[in-house]
Amino acid sequence: MEQDCRQKPTYRDINRTLLIVPRSKIMAPSSSDLKNARTCLNEASKVVCFSGAGLSAESGISTFRDHGTGSLWSRYDPMKLASPEGFAEDPDTVIQWYNWRRQMIANAQPNAAHRALAARPDISQITQNVDNLLERAGCEREQVIHLHGDITRDRCHNQCGFSTEIDLIKGTGESPCPRCGAPLRPAVVWFGESLPQTEWQRAETLCQQADCLMVVGTSAQVYPAAGLIELFRHASAGHIIIVNTQPSEADRLADFILEGPCGDLIPKLLQN
Ligand code: OAD
Repeated sequence: MEQDCRQKPTYRDINRTLLIVPRSKIMAPSSSDLKNARTCLNEASKVVCFSGAGLSAESGISTFRDHGTGSLWSRYDPMKLASPEGFAEDPDTVIQWYNWRRQMIANAQPNAAHRALAARPDISQITQNVDNLLERAGCEREQVIHLHGDITRDRCHNQCGFSTEIDLIKGTGESPCPRCGAPLRPAVVWFGESLPQTEWQRAETLCQQADCLMVVGTSAQVYPAAGLIELFRHASAGHIIIVNTQPSEADRLADFILEGPCGDLIPKLLQN
């Protein structure tokens, strides 16, 4: 993983290629003010919610890099399981790992944060999560931008355009693309790969036009997705509201930092 790290980029430097930025030392947030954050949110005309693995944590889906919670990248090597190189070296291990995650997602239920967000179709959802819990909570499919892909589908590794829905319980095995014969693989973004162009452009436009950004359950360490928070900060005089159980890289950009589980805080934040 270390070879993917580099000096923190400015927004201008970033492109759609997935990379990790090393965690810097940050100060603990000084205040959390649910009431004031709610007022700002209610006064905003275009609200965007940018979410990460913490949104699904209370549904029992492991996060990637929480401290002390057995998160995925503390147990598994992302370069073996989430990179084109890892897939070329051992496709079966990669596929079986995704099958395990697919089962975990199939057996999970949307939590109170997913449901509260889904009850607000006026809020645009940009998520790094590859699960379908926002949709299962009631979000329209078109309302949710999945920046890192969709684990409920396989796609052609050669990007010929073929993609197919997967039975999450049964999973898949190694199989060729019926259109071009290249291997099929989970339709998620791996390290070193580009984010899907249409989704990325939609996300950029939304963040440029929004006047309130909720940042929920993300460590904000993975770029280019985390760069959307900086983009919003530069483009808008509106507020950034963070909901997280721990300090994150986005704290330095925030107007409000609400520390705690999103299943508790998001419903409170979104109540009228
Ligand atoms: P991380 O695992 O990096 O961060 C999860 C964040 O959620 C942490 O900041 C936690 O403090 C916070 N958190 C945990 N439980 C929470 C809760 N109940 N309520 C609120 N916050 C909570 O996950 P991401 O930031 O989403 O990429 O990681 C970004 C990308 O890195 C992922 O999309 C994935 C990964 O490699 C791919 O798979 C392509």
